[in-house]
Amino acid sequence: MPEIPTPDAANAVEVQNPYVSATAGPKRVRTRHFQNAKQQGIPITGLTSYDMLTAQIFDQAGIDFLLVGDSAGNNVFGYETTLPVTVDELIPLTRAVARAVTRALVVADMPFGSYETGPSEALHTAVRFMKEAQAHAVKLEGGVRSRKQISRIVSAGIPVMGHIGFTPQSEHGLGGHMIQGRGAGAEQLITDALAVQDAGAFAVVLEMVPSGVAAEVTERLEIPTIGVGAGPGVDGQLMVWTDFAGMTGGRVPRFVRQYANLRSVLTDAVHSFKNDVDSGAYPGPEHSYE
Ligand code: KIV
Repeated sequence: MPEIPTPDAANAVEVQNPYVSATAGPKRVRTRHFQNAKQQGIPITGLTSYDMLTAQIFDQAGIDFLLVGDSAGNNVFGYETTLPVTVDELIPLTRAVARAVTRALVVADMPFGSYETGPSEALHTAVRFMKEAQAHAVKLEGGVRSRKQISRIVSAGIPVMGHIGFTPQSEHGLGGHMIQGRGAGAEQLITDALAVQDAGAFAVVLEMVPSGVAAEVTERLEIPTIGVGAGPGVDGQLMVWTDFAGMTGGRVPRFVRQYANLRSVLTDAVHSFKNDVDSGAYPGPEHSYE
């Protein structure tokens, strides 16, 4: 996967993440690199991450941005939906991810109930993620309905990633996990995308949108589009890590390609451990101290 190019020599003097290493390492991905990538037709890659170890692995593999998604509600905290997860629950996860990376841009997801009442609440939440968790950007859901919130956060110097199409925080309002932007919905999707761009977002996630509509939005926007179930005609692809690595178990959405089956690897390992302890095969002399 090609890396997003560094556009000018000024980047060469950027300081490395002091939490991780004082030695020279990869350059940091900044929001301006997203713009360059779109202009140059270089795909942007993103994965969710909720902890230090996966963040290190994804960062070292060259993934361009890590989203500490409110999908942690399902994948870390065991809620049925993303709705119950709170800012206080997401901040420690975001901090762990931000401390682990040297290159990737870390995006903190603003959970349901942390920005809907208006721009002041939205800015307050975004500041908490930047200050307490050292995120590099925030993400929030909604197009036209969230433009004032996006604009207020951006005017405080905090980069915002938009999120339109299927927005999981509105799953009850939308009537379930439904593809958005079909038929007459295409026009609304374009209106939402333009509202997010006009409000100052640096990129926008398109979730569960027909490929043709996603490609049209991508064509109409100057900022990059990041697809989650939006087909190939977008500027980048984002996946929930537990889905793409086969950790989740059960059915995954049609748009997920599973690159590993970590759940079965871990299940085999834990069975072997238990059998070895039960039979006395572990620990052996090589695992014991004299
Ligand atoms: O929380 C999350 O994982 C997300 C992505 C699915 C876009 O918002």
